[in-house]
Amino acid sequence: MFSKCGDEMERLQKVIANSGYCSRRKAEEEIKKGHVTVNGKIVVELGTKVEGTDVIEVNGTVIRKEEQKEYILFYKPREVITSVHDDKGRTTVLDYIDSKVRIYPVGRLDYDTTGLLLLTNDGELANLLMHPKTEIEKVYVAKVRGILTGTEINKLKNGIVIDGRKTSRAKVKVRKIDKKSQTSIIEITIHEGRNHQVKKMFEHVGHEVLKLKRERFAFLDLKGLHSGEYRYLSIKEIKKLYALVNK
Ligand code: URA
Repeated sequence: MFSKCGDEMERLQKVIANSGYCSRRKAEEEIKKGHVTVNGKIVVELGTKVEGTDVIEVNGTVIRKEEQKEYILFYKPREVITSVHDDKGRTTVLDYIDSKVRIYPVGRLDYDTTGLLLLTNDGELANLLMHPKTEIEKVYVAKVRGILTGTEINKLKNGIVIDGRKTSRAKVKVRKIDKKSQTSIIEITIHEGRNHQVKKMFEHVGHEVLKLKRERFAFLDLKGLHSGEYRYLSIKEIKKLYALVNK
């Protein structure tokens, strides 16, 4: 919301002038005349400060400058919902991130899944990354009940019909087998992003997923981050993502 104080805020007349709409003096006149609205409300005080997300109109023309694009790589903990809001009051991924712009998750991880999640306000890139045709490689590590047979591993690799559609080819590696607890750690690489896909694939071959973590998304991994931490992507990484989706 706009207000008369705040660290990241700028004076309304300065924002109008910086947008190129008119001079600062003209902007001050327009404000005093009641020709300027912020988020739909007329503002006549010159001292009013606004932030990047406020919508400013002068004589009905939106002059808000474009939000700066943000690209965040987040290490999602368990029991966090991949959503910008939760009606049940559960912790959301946005509770971990201090951002002035309206970022949102690129795809989703289940409430109990941990690992790599991208967030951005770049709708174009987000849509391209999520598009099935883009086939971004995602690496998951699953702790599953039981020990998989060769036949089961081959089924996972070759595709399984879930929700009436066959999954595309996957890579599967057994990382560890614990005979005592009868559990296995399996690395699975998929190119799709269907709902609960990994859990459904393992369930189909008779192995419940006990824990699930996404370790990699395209060339990005969790190196240097602890659970609950995030970092900004570098320009080089953003360009690389664009190159991937524009292939
Ligand atoms: N597959 C799942 O089953 N759950 C996730 O969170 C991600 C992939």
